[in-house]
Amino acid sequence: MNAPRKRPEELRSHQWYGTDGLRSFSHRARTRQLGYLPEEHLGKPVIAILNTWSDINPCHVHLRDRAQAVKRGVWQAGGFPLEFPVSTLSETFQKPTPMLYRNMLAMETEELLRSYPVDGAVLMGGCDKSTPALLMGAASADLPTVFVPAGPMLPGHWRGEVLGSGTDMWKYWDDKRAGLIGDCEMAELESGLARSPGHCMTMGTASTLTAAAEALGVTVPGASSIPAVDSGHDRMAAKAGMTAVELVHRDRRLSAVLTRDAFEDAVTTVLGLGGSTNAVIHLIAMAGRAGVRLTLDDFDRIARTVPVLANVRPGGRKYLMEDFHFAGGLPGFLSRITDLLHLERPTVSHDTLREQLAGARVHDDDVIRTRDNPVASEGGVAVLRGNLCPDGAVIKHIAAEPHLLRHTGPAVVFDDYKTMQRTINDPALGITADSVLVLRNAGPKGGPGMPEYGMLPIPDHLLKQGVRDMVRISDARMSGTSYGACVLHVAPESYVGGPLALVRTGDLITLDVEARTLRLEVDDAELERRRAEWTPPPVRYERGYGALYSEQITQADTGCDFEFLARPGTVQDPYAG
Ligand code: FES
Ligand code: MG
Repeated sequence: MNAPRKRPEELRSHQWYGTDGLRSFSHRARTRQLGYLPEEHLGKPVIAILNTWSDINPCHVHLRDRAQAVKRGVWQAGGFPLEFPVSTLSETFQKPTPMLYRNMLAMETEELLRSYPVDGAVLMGGCDKSTPALLMGAASADLPTVFVPAGPMLPGHWRGEVLGSGTDMWKYWDDKRAGLIGDCEMAELESGLARSPGHCMTMGTASTLTAAAEALGVTVPGASSIPAVDSGHDRMAAKAGMTAVELVHRDRRLSAVLTRDAFEDAVTTVLGLGGSTNAVIHLIAMAGRAGVRLTLDDFDRIARTVPVLANVRPGGRKYLMEDFHFAGGLPGFLSRITDLLHLERPTVSHDTLREQLAGARVHDDDVIRTRDNPVASEGGVAVLRGNLCPDGAVIKHIAAEPHLLRHTGPAVVFDDYKTMQRTINDPALGITADSVLVLRNAGPKGGPGMPEYGMLPIPDHLLKQGVRDMVRISDARMSGTSYGACVLHVAPESYVGGPLALVRTGDLITLDVEARTLRLEVDDAELERRRAEWTPPPVRYERGYGALYSEQITQADTGCDFEFLARPGTVQDPYAG
């Protein structure tokens, strides 16, 4: 880009550093205290690098180093980089679920960018909720912003087999429960599943959301699939730093990039990748912050037009993110669906997506399929409606056994996750392969935080008979690396009295993915009787952040943002008045 240069007094940070008053004097004095010469920073765009690195987050453990590459890029382009450590959301370690903290990181992001002398930002993250959290906050702050995806970890290996994180963990855990492998094998697997820094290398939530970020146009082109430990990841980080400086000079704020067209393309991308169901919630929330009203109906409408072309586990059957990267990565994938995209919209690096995709191609037609040989002819996620989910529910039907996609069976209801864990193997429940397992009180308020409980375990006795999938229904989410006929995000959730709260063991439930319906086969009069008897469960958090969360969280179909954050309105810049 050959952008015009901003004069120093046109920069937002000028209000902190460049004016005649006492405060500017103090800010300059304190920058000398930081060890910088005036000529190193005065009049240059200040680029905040928001880094989610932490010792406890294996998906981001390389980002402490990688920030140095971003800084290099910022310096090279004539900017002044400042790194800000922000909360880390580790999908593996944070309980009850990092989803509880997505909005907290979004708040932190927005408020840091607003309250400090920042002209532009580089956001570093990738483990599941980190991507939406950073982008939600940045969208509200609306500065020129580039996202640096953490990159997938290397493929897992064990006894000659290539392993996918998450997906193969579930699979081998089931094998252990079925008595097919023992403790020695599990000990070896422990060292083989996750071999390097980086996020899960399946097409789980992390890969899906970083791909969505690239499709939105907020990353360096091709960034999202670069393996975390590849030297190309350093180069991409440096380029991101340079790009952020250029964006400041061009005054291209996030709002210029995060348009309705961009979000529709992100939905198309997520569905065509056979990506994680979590993307539905996160994209709706991100769009909301950008002032774009994205709905479940948008997903269902677009899903019917997009074939799944990425043959990446768990939606595809074979490959992992490194294969996807070398097959052409997201630019290659997008080059196969240009007719479904809005090509004239701007990105952080190009004036149009069309320019950005020029020259993109696919190098392996089995990894990124051609249009006439897709993994599935329709997008991977279906939106269901019916008397059990008046405000919608989702199912990743391409990761389910086909015979279950039209199924009627008797419900076996669990009131909460702990009860389910304790009793699922109890023979007295009489669970058969035809049963429909129902879990409630695992939604946004009831979980709280909508934990990834949605892939309910198959009871041991059925596993031993070879049953590997059953219809399961909950108001929870499911890990993007999970699979099965799991109906998720039932809205409204049971905790607030949604129809899921009224289901009783033995009721018949019908799932029909083709018709996009989920029905509780109980008549309305009986449901009304049950509703009259229903009492709300006790509150889970009496004080603290959890209490704020439960008060403010919106339902799954509107993205689980906080009401006071999602609300339209402006916030004054601290120096503007
Ligand atoms: Fe971080 Fe899977 S645990 S992306
Ligand atoms: Mg996950």
